[in-house]
Amino acid sequence: MERMPSSSRSKKTHTYGSQILQDIDETASIELFVKSAEVLDITLKKLFDHFGVYWSCVYALEMYPQFYEDNNSTKDFIVSLDRIHQQVTSKKPGAKPPKFIYEWNKDGTLNVTYQSHRDLFELFDSLLKGMDKYFGSETEITRIGQNKMTLDFEAASASNSASA
Ligand code: HEM
Repeated sequence: MERMPSSSRSKKTHTYGSQILQDIDETASIELFVKSAEVLDITLKKLFDHFGVYWSCVYALEMYPQFYEDNNSTKDFIVSLDRIHQQVTSKKPGAKPPKFIYEWNKDGTLNVTYQSHRDLFELFDSLLKGMDKYFGSETEITRIGQNKMTLDFEAASASNSASA
């Protein structure tokens, strides 16, 4: 997969009022996703996929550019996720950010356990695919438990070199 051209990466369609400074009503946010999918007549997963691309390629890039300077690949981002979420929510009273627990396997794949009372595993998957689109990579995600997955960051390059 090709990396997104820089010209289309941060095309501003509008400006955002301000950073989110307070914890927001999560029931309302999830309801907003559900209702938007209904209005657009698409599945919730499809909506998450669109949101994941917009978040990773446009919104977060504009609002949190510092993380894109530190992280140059989907892999870098994923291994920093726990720290990023703690950092951006540390001054938001009442925030309960998702937690990510990492375990490297001998074959270079990574097991990630996603812990959140919101159980938004499908959103996690879509956000990761958004990062892949931004960085032009194809991470293979295999779900191995309720909230646990194995990520293979090299799967696409391994299959390309096998077929070459
Ligand atoms: C610059 C990058 C990112 C920033 C600044 C960021 C920040 C945030 C913030 C502020 C929230 C709300 C947390 C709360 O209200 O407690 C959130 C939620 C979430 N983030 Fe990120 N995020 C980033 C990238 C990602 C990526 C790449 C993934 C997954 C691959 C991800 C997975 C999630 C999920 C699944 C939620 C939903 C809340 C939950 O599951 O409890 N984030 N993120």
